[in-house]
Amino acid sequence: MAITYSSITKKVIMALAGLFLIMFLFVHLTVNLLVLVNDGGETFNKAAHFMVTNPIIQFMQIFLFGGFILHIIMGIVLQIQNWWARPQRYKVEAYSEMSFFSKFMIHTGLIVLAILIYHLYNFFFQAKLGNIEEIFYDGQAYEDMGIMVTEKFSHLSHVLIYVGWLLFLGFHLDHAFHSGLQSLGFNHNKYTPAMFTISRVIAIILTVGFLIIPLAIYFNQ
Ligand code: HEM
Repeated sequence: MAITYSSITKKVIMALAGLFLIMFLFVHLTVNLLVLVNDGGETFNKAAHFMVTNPIIQFMQIFLFGGFILHIIMGIVLQIQNWWARPQRYKVEAYSEMSFFSKFMIHTGLIVLAILIYHLYNFFFQAKLGNIEEIFYDGQAYEDMGIMVTEKFSHLSHVLIYVGWLLFLGFHLDHAFHSGLQSLGFNHNKYTPAMFTISRVIAIILTVGFLIIPLAIYFNQ
């Protein structure tokens, strides 16, 4: 009984963190799509500047990284518990009959994580280390994130890594939203098909949305 309770608690924490991460991805995608505005990166640089200087957003970043860490740790722990506890494993696998990618959440999740570290190294840490050139608009200095993103995606190798990464993210997200809601107790035969569809639509919007960025930059240079 104790094991069941703690597994449910972990699933709920994982679901809350996962749903929060989906929200982050929508915000991140919206800001990043601005890099495609044809104004030399001005709109994107100003939006990125707002994101890194706004105190509320900086405060939310603590929850973002906390959410990532919780989601990853709970995911790994639950997976190990499933591998060890056979009856529970059957229970979870019966659930997962519903979606193909649900069987590979730990695998797709770990691949997404590995390349996320590479992504953070490329962009986030370069910004934090102050390795980004400055550009001035109306006398005010901004980090030229636009030129950095455009430069990265002018290399085919980089574009291919991102395309692969984003496809795995899409597979992971395909099972994410409805599974998260199910862990939070929203589970009703009548709504399950709709939740699957919403989950897939979210996965497609985020994957295609992010994919447009490297592909558009590479093919428009
Ligand atoms: C082609 C798609 C993407 C582009 C162009 C992009 C670009 C960027 C840039 C420029 C930053 C640094 C922002 C700053 O510190 O000022 C950043 C940070 C970050 N990115 Fe991405 N990103 C993409 C996709 C993703 C995806 C798919 C994920 C998650 C799976 C992700 C997760 C993060 C995280 C967690 C940070 C650090 C937090 C933050 O700065 O908001 N990114 N990204």
